[in-house]
Amino acid sequence: MKKTLVLFTIFCLCISCNSKESTKKKKIEAKPKALLESINRGNELYVDMCINCHLADGKGVAKIFPPLDNSDYLKKNRKESIKAIKYGMSGEITVNGEKYNSQMLPLGLSDDEVADVMNYILNSWSNKNEEMITVKEVEKAIQ
Ligand code: HEC
Repeated sequence: MKKTLVLFTIFCLCISCNSKESTKKKKIEAKPKALLESINRGNELYVDMCINCHLADGKGVAKIFPPLDNSDYLKKNRKESIKAIKYGMSGEITVNGEKYNSQMLPLGLSDDEVADVMNYILNSWSNKNEEMITVKEVEKAIQ
C-alpha cells in the first residue's frame, strides 16, 4: 500500500514538472510566432501594393523609388515610415545618401495592415528588426 502511494507521488511530481516545462516553452515561442504571422500577412500586402515601385528585392529604382532594403531612412525614422505607408509621402527625403523628391500616394491600408507590412519590410532582404511593430505603435505614430 505504501509503495503504491510513493509511486503515485512520484508520478504526480513528474506530471507537474512536465507541464511546467511545456508552458515555459510555449511562452518563448509565443512572440516569434505572432511576428512570423504578421510578416507573412505583410508579405502578401507587399506583393499586392508595394512591389511595383520598391521591387521584389526591396532595392527600388535609383532616384525614382527609394530602396527599403538597408534603407537608413526606414531604420532611423520608424514613425515617419509608418505615417508614409498610412497617409502617403511627398517632398524631399534622403535615403542612403540619395535625394528623392517625389510622391507616394496613400495606399488605403488599415492600421493592422500597416503594422504587418512594416514587419515584413523590417525583416526582409538584409533588414533585421528585434522589436515587432504592433497596431498600438501604428495608432500612436499616425495621430
Ligand atoms: C507608386 C509607387 C509606390 C508604391 C506603390 C509604394 N511606394 Fe513607398 N515610396 C514611393 C516613393 C516615390 C517614395 C518617396 C517619396 C518622397 O520622395 O517623398 C516612397 C517612400 C517610401 C518609404 C520611406 C522611404 C524609404 O525608402 O525608407 C517607405 C518606408 C515606403 N515607401 C514603403 C512602402 C510600402 C510598405 C508600400 C506598400 C504598402 C509602398 N511604399 C508603396 C513610391 C511608392
